[in-house]
Parts: sequence; structure tokens; C-alpha cells
Amino acid sequence: MITNTELEQKGNLFPAGLISYEHDQDTINFISKNGVRLQVTVLRDNMLRFRYSTNGIFEHDFSYAIDEDNPQGFNKLTVDDNESHVEIITEKFICRVAKDDLRVGMYELDGRKILEDELGFHWEETFEFGGSFVKMSKSSKDQENYFGLGDKPTNFNLKGKRLSLWNTDQYAYGKDTVELYKAVPFYMGLHSNICYGIFFDNTFKTHFDFCQERRNVTSFWADGGEMNYYFIYGPQMADVLTTYTDLTGKPELPPMWALGYHQSKWSYYPESKVREIAAKFRELNFPCDALYLDIDYMEGFRCFTWNKDYFPDPKRMVKELENDGFKTVAIIDPGIKIDLNYPVFKEALEKDYFCRRADGPKMRGKVWPGECYFPDFTNPEVREWWSGLYRELIGEIGVKGIWNDMNEPAVMEVPGKTFPLDVRHDYDGHPCSHRKAHNVYGMQMARGTYEGVKKFNFPKRPFIITRANYAGGQRYTSTWTGDNVASWEHLWLANVQIQRLCMSGMSFAGSDIGGFAEQPSGELFARWIQLGIFHPFCRVHSSGDHGEQEPWFFGDEVLGITKKYVELRYQLLPYLYTAFFHYVQEGIPILKPLVYYDQEDVQTHHRADEFIFGNQILVCPVQEPNVQGRRMYIPKGKWYNLWNNNVVTGGREMWVEAPLETIPVFIKEGAIIPKYPVQQYVDEKKIEEVQLDVYYKIGKENSEFYEDSHDGYEYRQGMFSHRTFKFTGKEDEMILRQHKNGKYSAPYKNFKLKVFGLPFEVKQIFFDNEEVKPADLEYNDEDKSFIISKEFSELHLVG
Ligand code: GLC
Repeated sequence: MITNTELEQKGNLFPAGLISYEHDQDTINFISKNGVRLQVTVLRDNMLRFRYSTNGIFEHDFSYAIDEDNPQGFNKLTVDDNESHVEIITEKFICRVAKDDLRVGMYELDGRKILEDELGFHWEETFEFGGSFVKMSKSSKDQENYFGLGDKPTNFNLKGKRLSLWNTDQYAYGKDTVELYKAVPFYMGLHSNICYGIFFDNTFKTHFDFCQERRNVTSFWADGGEMNYYFIYGPQMADVLTTYTDLTGKPELPPMWALGYHQSKWSYYPESKVREIAAKFRELNFPCDALYLDIDYMEGFRCFTWNKDYFPDPKRMVKELENDGFKTVAIIDPGIKIDLNYPVFKEALEKDYFCRRADGPKMRGKVWPGECYFPDFTNPEVREWWSGLYRELIGEIGVKGIWNDMNEPAVMEVPGKTFPLDVRHDYDGHPCSHRKAHNVYGMQMARGTYEGVKKFNFPKRPFIITRANYAGGQRYTSTWTGDNVASWEHLWLANVQIQRLCMSGMSFAGSDIGGFAEQPSGELFARWIQLGIFHPFCRVHSSGDHGEQEPWFFGDEVLGITKKYVELRYQLLPYLYTAFFHYVQEGIPILKPLVYYDQEDVQTHHRADEFIFGNQILVCPVQEPNVQGRRMYIPKGKWYNLWNNNVVTGGREMWVEAPLETIPVFIKEGAIIPKYPVQQYVDEKKIEEVQLDVYYKIGKENSEFYEDSHDGYEYRQGMFSHRTFKFTGKEDEMILRQHKNGKYSAPYKNFKLKVFGLPFEVKQIFFDNEEVKPADLEYNDEDKSFIISKEFSELHLVG
């Protein structure tokens, strides 16, 4: 145990005893004898914000992470005083601030401990840069576990890890690489079936130690800025995560085509190559919605230009691809080539939009185009200009999505692979150095891009994907996990990273399927597709240095397997879209790691392979070569094996068959899964009928199905349809009730209901309370299917 005296010798300073405190409606201010100020603000019954100032003076309160429209308000606040503590009591929990050293503890209303400061707030002055290293330490229980923190490529459970957040271009990173592309300083702690969250909203380089340095201590600190964090009480992980996502914001619904299969490579060019790829997809009837243009479409890597030798008439090409169902997504990087004959460069130079070094010269660095300057995206005027640059690409040429890359920002051949720390930024009118702006640079670039694409693609929805991001960046963009490698370890990492991003408010995420660097074997590619179709974002991308990575490259067996899975994704689009609806409405993650799904079951706390896709589909990828199956944990309850409809009882680990054509997938009993027919791209066909797969259960289960017109904004005016299916199953009776919200009615008329595991012979059928003949509903006894009007209120089967 390190003592305060030892820490003080290292230069750490601490708050002294309380002199006084005062409070208004929602904020309590504590002042200590040595001038430290602690401000506690009640934002919600389950969320408090803590800010510390070492000398009583706070900086201007500004954050890129917090959503301006985040819902606030609480029902109850009592501030009580006793000899040793000041108590802040909300409707959900109690916070105690110690009078002798301002240490803080959080307790449930019945007194059970949630989280206590160990040393609490302390800091170290750093004269040279003028601020302090601000630090916080909390005590940790033996059985406490930790989750979150963005895209870290390490064990899903973070206990025992020390990690830092500094956006970094990490080509071919590995397991346990400490710094990656994104900074999401948010984690959740879980012990005694109590979950809480900490969001440390500080954009400087931040550090997190989860009981690595000391077994019962968790700490987090930053190389500058304020100790400014939010404490969120659960007790359910879902409460914590949805509160965090409310605070930092949710995206709009993406256009449904963005949930289709995407094919990318560095790079498809010239136009004839792009067409060849497109034609091959259609020839093979392999569904695909988007093709990507990597940097070679540009003239000398100048953003917002086209290489006219490779792409003589981009507008025509994009249009023709679109006629064939392909949406074109183009890459845009932040580095602007230094070239006085290049209008984008000239304009930014004249308007003084580029970042500068502390002493005045522009920040100069090498990226793909050679020497570049870099727009300061933290300046609102620059973002506005940047958004306008998309007029031609989106508005005129018809490109449908933009891919922002290298925005950590990455600089080649320099120490640290990024800007020097003295570079200046506007930071929306709070001028600062790169120390503070580094982690938000990519987020602000993606934000400017989002504004532009949204403006010029209106009334259709924008699609943006970024590599770098900061907490809250999910409001603007989707993301991928960067330059991974075609290895089995990276397949494991992709699974963990996407689940972790889902636990960090950034559900719209995927990996480069098959691996970016190097080349996968056919087996690895097939296994990766099997996982990738269950990720919110599904794209094959590769560096192209090591051969082809289109699904037909690996021979007929792999082509057949991958096609079957991509078709399954297209069938599951309405189910996935419903999960997106819950994500954008309520912040519910699209993938649910088992610990999120059932935190009470401690078996789940160390599981990372299995996850729930949406609400009711359990998936467990095969992550090793040459296997015929694997062991996996099935959460409590009963589950149908998707491939043979056998029912298994969970709460235990078991062996599951998984030859190459099979990934273990289980459906929760009672679930109703909506399915579209297979299409080659979203909205290829007029949908005549939606299939509802009903997985019989003795008991009750609710399922949901959200629909709208798949693009555009009418859904915001109520033009959506949100159905809830209430299933009740008995030994000899099944009742299915439907409730519908919203004004939208899809063009098809009927559902095809297919019941799996029906335990009785159907003798009587009641439809909306009237008895009908089996033939009226086209009842097929073989596959237990019915055709029913989609507006049904109740279907009642009697055995
Ligand atoms: C970066 C990106 C990669 C892209 C390449 C060329 O490495 O992460 O996806 O293909 O740059 O633009």
C-alpha cells in the first residue's frame, strides 16, 4: 500500500479539510482549506458530475463529448450534514463527501457500498506546460470487474490492465497494443450485482489502471485538464450504459443500405476494375450494397479531386453503379497537399484554416500525398467550410457515404506518428495545444463530414465512417477497428473489440473482415464472415498488398459458405434494423456481451467469445483453425440451435458442433424473428411478405419489429411502424398478440408465420377472436406456417 506521504514525496498534492460548502438547486460546492474546490452536480437520479479545481478556479465549462440535448432532471435531492460527512441523497443512491479530506463514497440507499475513493483526488503540478496531472484513485473489491474503454485490443474484462488513451495510427497492431485509434474514457465496474459507470471527460492523454499496480485499487488520471468525471449508478449495466449514451448522444438511424454487405479494398481502380467487381457480385448473386473507393481515386491523393485517367466520368460511373444497387463510398483524409494549384489547399491557406505550430508556422507533415497541411477541425468555421467541400462529391456526383481515415491525426515518418504537442487548435473558441485537442481531432473531422454529407444528401440519410473518434463521436459516424491482420488472433480481437465498442456507446462498428494486412486462408475468411455478418457494420477490406480478398477468391466451398451467411444477414435486416432502432432511441447496445445480458450470473463476467446479437440471438464465433466444434457458454434459459432446432438449456458450458459451414447460433425460446427475403441489395425487391419465425416456449416472451421506409426522415414525423409481439405458450395453446405504434404501413400485406417447436397438433384456430378454418390462413401442417394479415391483433391456436 502506498501511503500519502510517499505519494507526496513524489510530488502529489491532496485536498485538505473542508472549510465550507454551499448548494443551489442541483450543485454542491465544497471548498477545502488549501483552496481545492469540488463541485458536485446532480444531473439525474442516477448520475452525478464531479469537478475538481486545485486552486478554486474552474476553466470554462466546455465539452465535445456531451450531447447538448441530453435529458436531465431528477426527482429528489437532499443534502445532509453530519460530523464527518456531507451526504448528497438522490432518489437512487447516496454520495458521501468526507469533511477531513473531501474523499467521496457512493452507496445504495440501503447502505451497500458501490464505490469509494481510495486516495481520491490528487494531482501533480507540471510547471512546464502550466497545468497539472490530475489523478483519481478508487478502491476495488476482489470480485470487482471492469468493462468498456472503446476499441482496446485486449481481454474483454479489463481487470489487471493498465491502458492509456491517445489516438494512434497502429498499422498491424496486436493483442494488448495499449493505444489505438479511439479515445473513449468510459468504463463500467461490476461487483455484488451492482454496476456503475465512470466517464472521465478529459481529452488530454488519459490513463486507466484496473488493479494492475495495486490489487485493490483502480485509478485514472490525465496529462492535463480537469479532474472532471461523471458517476453513473446502475445497478443494471443497461441502466449505466443507456444513461452514458443519453449523456454523450445517439446517432440518427442509418440508411438501411448501410447495414448491408460492403466490399472494399485499397484500392479498386480504374473504373473498369470497379465495374468488374460489381458485375461479379451480381453474376454470383452474392448480395452487396456498397463499394468503396480508397485513396487512388484521387488525383495525387488530393482530397475532393478525381484521377480522370482512372475515372474519366465519376458521375456516370456512380450513377450506373447505383442503378445496379451499389452505393459508392469514398475516402477522405485530413492531410491537404501543399500545392498552390490545388483549390482546396489555396482556399484553406487564404482563410487561415490550417493548424499552426506554437511559434506561427503551419503544421507540416507527410501523409499519402506527400507534404501536407492540416485543417483545424476544432474551429467551427473550418468545419463549416469542410462540410461545404462535399457539395460536388455528394450533391453532384452522387457518392453516398464518406470514409474518414488517418484522422488520429496520423503523420508519417515522425516520432509519435502524429502532430507535435505544441500545435495550436481553436477548440471551439477555447484555444489550446495539441495535448488537449489530439483525441478530438478525428471526431471533429467526422463531425464536419457528417454535416456536409447530411446537407448534400438530404432528404436521404448520411453515412459516415471514421477511424479515429472520441466519446460522443457516435452522434456523427460509424467506425471500424483499423488496420488489423489476417490472423486467427485478430479474428478473436475483432469479436472483443466490437463488443467493447458496443459497451462504449459506439455500436455502429465493424472490423476489416478477413484482415487488412496479410492474407487470410479460405478457412479464416469464412470464419470471419460468419462473425462479421453479426456485426453492426459489415465490410470486407484489405490492403491489397497480399492478393485478393473478394469472396470468390477462395474457391467454391468458401464462396458457397460466405454467400449463405451474407444472405442470412440480408434476411435478418429487419431484426438488425430493430436493434438499431433501440440503439438510436434508447442507447441500447446492438451487441450485448454476456455480462451485459445477465450480470447476475457471475459465469458471464469472464466470457468474451459469446454475445447476443440484438435481443434474442446468441452467437459464438469459431476462432481456431481445423475444428469441428467448440465449447461455449449458453446463458440461462432455453435456446434453439438455429441449424437443427434442437433446444438446449443454458446456464452451463457445452460442446457445440461447428464444422466449417456452421457458426454456433442459438435463438432464445419465445422469440419472434422478422425476416426479409434474400435480396442482392436493400430495396432491390418489393417485399411481398415478411416471415416471422416463432420459437415456441411454454411461457411468455416479448419481441419487437421496427420498420420505416429504410431511408429519409419521415420516421421522425411518426412514419414508422413499431410492433410488439406478445407471445404466450402453453402445453396445448398458443396466443400471439400484436400491438402497433406509428403511422407507417409497409407496402406488403401479410406475415408468414412459421412456428418452431409447436408441441401440439392444431385443432382450432382463432384469428382476431373469430374461429377460422386452417385453409383461411393457408395453414401448412408440415412447417407449421400460416399466412396472416400484418395488421392482426391476436392469433390463438388450440391443440
Ligand atoms: C489506412 C486505413 C486503411 C486504408 C489505407 C489507405 O491504413 O486504415 O483502411 O485502406 O489507409 O487509405
